[in-house]
Formats: sequence, C-alpha cells, structure tokens
Amino acid sequence: MITNVTEYEAIAKEKLPKMVYDYYASGAEDQWTLKENRNAFSRILFRPRILVDVSKIDLTTTVLGFKISMPIMIAPTAMQKMAHPEGESATARAASAAGTIMTLSSWSTSSVEEVASTGPGIRFFQLYVLKDRNVVTQLVKRAERAGFKAIALTVDTPMLGRREADIKNRFTLPPNLVLKNFEGLDLGKLERTDDSGLASYVARQTDRSLNWKDVKWLQTITSLPILVKGVLTAEDTKIAVQAGAAGIIVSNHGARQLDYVPATITALEEVVKAAQGRVPVFLDGGIRRGTDVFKALALGASGVFIGRPVVFSLAADGEAGVRKVLEILHDEFELTMALTGCRSVNEISRDHVVTEWDRPRIAPRL
Ligand code: FNR
Repeated sequence: MITNVTEYEAIAKEKLPKMVYDYYASGAEDQWTLKENRNAFSRILFRPRILVDVSKIDLTTTVLGFKISMPIMIAPTAMQKMAHPEGESATARAASAAGTIMTLSSWSTSSVEEVASTGPGIRFFQLYVLKDRNVVTQLVKRAERAGFKAIALTVDTPMLGRREADIKNRFTLPPNLVLKNFEGLDLGKLERTDDSGLASYVARQTDRSLNWKDVKWLQTITSLPILVKGVLTAEDTKIAVQAGAAGIIVSNHGARQLDYVPATITALEEVVKAAQGRVPVFLDGGIRRGTDVFKALALGASGVFIGRPVVFSLAADGEAGVRKVLEILHDEFELTMALTGCRSVNEISRDHVVTEWDRPRIAPRL
C-alpha cells in the first residue's frame, strides 16, 4: 500500500533495468544539487494560522488562463516508454483525469499527435532547440496543430550535464523505442557510444548557440505563449520578461545539468521579486509532498511541476500509478491548506512560512 509519493521510487528501482532506473534517478556529477533540491524544503517551516473555518477548501487555480484542479502539474521527462509500454499516453490520461496540465518532452517516445489523440486535456510542449531550425519550426507547428497550449522552452541544456551513471551504463534508448517526434527525420535514434548516448546526441543535435534572440525568433514561428524553463536568477528573469516570455519556470532540470546551483526553492523568491508580477513564476525540482507545494506557493510560485514521481509511478503501475501520485499530492496539499488555515490558493501568503533567510521575528530579550 502506497502512502506517499516517494515510495514509488523503490518499486521502480526493483522493476526497471538498471540503465533505465539510473537514467531517471540521476543528477549531475556530485549530485549535491539533487540532495539540496529536497533538503532545502526541510529548512522552510510553517507559521500556521488557527481557528479559520476550513470546512470548504478550493485548490483550483488558473495557469495561462486555463483553469486547473490544483497548482500541481507534470514536468516534461524524456522517454517515458522505458518506464511503461503506454509511456507518455498513460501520463497524459492521468493528468487529464486529475484535471491538470501535462508537459510533453521533445524527447518523448510518443509523438505530439499520439499524445493529443488520448483525449481532451490541457497540455504544454517542451522544446529543445536543435541546430536544424526547419525541424524545430515543423515540430512547434505540429504541437500547435495537435492542440498544445504553450511552449516550455528549456534553456539550461546547451550541453548535457554529466550524469556519471549514464556514462558508466553507456546509456542508450532500448532498440524497440525511438524519439517519436523525430522519427523519419533520422533524428529518432540514440547511438550506443562509449559514454552516455544521450550526451552524444545532444552534442550532435542541439544548438549550443541558443540565446535570447532565439526567444524572439520563436515568437515569430508560433503564437503559443512561451515559458522559459531553467531560470535561476533575477538577472535572467528580467531579460526573459523583456524578451516576451509568458512565464518563468524556476528549474535546475531536476539537478541534472549544472551541479552546485541552489535548490530551486531557494532561488524562487529572487525570481519572483524580479518578475514583479508581470508574468507568473512556476517551480520544479524536489516536489514530493503537499507541504512542498504549499511552500513554493507561499514564496510566490503560481504553481509547481513534478518530474521523477511521474516516471517512477508510471514504472510501478502505469496510468494508475501516475493518477495515484497526483491524488496523493492533491490530498496532502489540501491537508496542508487546512492545517495552515488557507481556504483558497490566494490565501497562501509569505507570512505562512519562515525561511532561514528571514530575519528573526522575535528579537531575543536579554
Ligand atoms: C527531466 N527533465 C527534462 N526537462 C526538459 O526540459 N526536457 C526533458 O526532456 C527532460 N527530461 C527529463 C528526464 C528525466 C528522467 C528527469 C528526471 C528530468 C527535467 C524535468 O522537466 C524537471 O525539471 C525535473 O524533473 C524536476 O525535478 P524533480 O521533480 O524530478 O525533482
């Protein structure tokens, strides 16, 4: 019996081939940021309010104008068919059943059209910009035609972070699977190399010259709103807003890119302040509890995304597993709201949490 989201990881580890589990679980290099993404939440404490009538609690919120059941969404994670034969389609159905948003990775093992055909649902498409801009343009247009509602442009991956387990395992996509969006373009297969097959793929295909001008360029090829995924500083937040971003995702790519960047929850407030309410700020990285979701909202996030819990629950139990993860987080978040005295997400305030960078509220009297 599963009682929390983290339990799925052990089940996935048992079920999956080592190469696949390691790919999902790993962070970059020393994995300091990987641990910190979790640990940093444990240093933020609550200042709960009591005797608020919480007999009715409303978890709903609006993201880019779309009403969703809760501020908990699904982050893009690549190659989900390695976890379960139904892969991204199962995730899409689970998100839709939970009334929330799924983000589909560029490197999915199901195409944008396949995911769209699972039925109604609000979906975002995550974009990696490849060297071949024709391919990028086609892909964005396909996502738009398939009914995706926003582009999450990943900006933290000019090269792939060094994930040592993938190097040791000589990670590659199992032979029965392809990067489905690129099938037919000779870009769908990962080659087996002496190190990580994905790192080599990225080195060959992704455009390391990607820069702010391309955020403008992207706006010339699509009318979809663009979320900039992978911002960690106030400086970049300001530039992103100026460049026309519709939102910011504070993300360190699940600690898989640059090691020794701060936990996203630590970087969040700086970004929120720099955004000055002009665009919504979202967060991903280390969200495993409803209390984590609450802390992110208290520090100014408009919503959060989850990555690994989705692939691990997908491996354990397919669509039902992902549904269960969303249900557990929903219920834990609702409970946190009840116990802190918040009846709607708008009532969650900065005063409901205390962080180590806050000044002591009560000066000790000596
Ligand atoms: C990712 N992430 C990711 N991000 C992205 O923009 N495109 C992608 O294809 C992937 N693929 C991917 C695969 C796997 C296995 C993981 C774990 C992560 C990063 C992802 O969107 C998100 O930023 C993190 O996963 C959030 O952290 P947690 O929830 O995994 O701690």
